[in-house]
Amino acid sequence: MEEITRKDFLHTTVNTLIGLWVAVVAVLSSYSGLRYVWPTEKTAGPSGENNLSFPLTELPEGSMKKVVIGGKPAGIIRINEKLYALSLICTHLGCIVSWHPEEKRLICPCHGGLYDINGSVLGGPPPRPLPSYEVKQSGDTVVVG
Ligand code: FES
Repeated sequence: MEEITRKDFLHTTVNTLIGLWVAVVAVLSSYSGLRYVWPTEKTAGPSGENNLSFPLTELPEGSMKKVVIGGKPAGIIRINEKLYALSLICTHLGCIVSWHPEEKRLICPCHGGLYDINGSVLGGPPPRPLPSYEVKQSGDTVVVG
């Protein structure tokens, strides 16, 4: 029967601990990596109605108002007195896009997806345009849906 020396025991124990530490770091790193590559869909608030309205004064020229339509984040944008209503969920992997009024573009912070004011893809990995919603002005009210 082979005898285990104190030196062998310490050597095995240290190697096992290092191996466990490397395994934990690898698992945590891959989780972070997966979260970057495959982010979860974020919502801007509680479930919303499919139709909504709000005063036009809440949407100054050039700005975007974040709303929830059918439980999903959407943006209502006012440019040159025209209204646009777009989903804010990037069609690549579901990150929330943000409005950049100086460029009149929607940009995805995750992988640089770029959309125009109509939701069309201008660049980056998104495979499809942003879905749009019906929106109109009725007097001093913005009506979506
Ligand atoms: S999630 Fe990848 S570009 Fe938007």
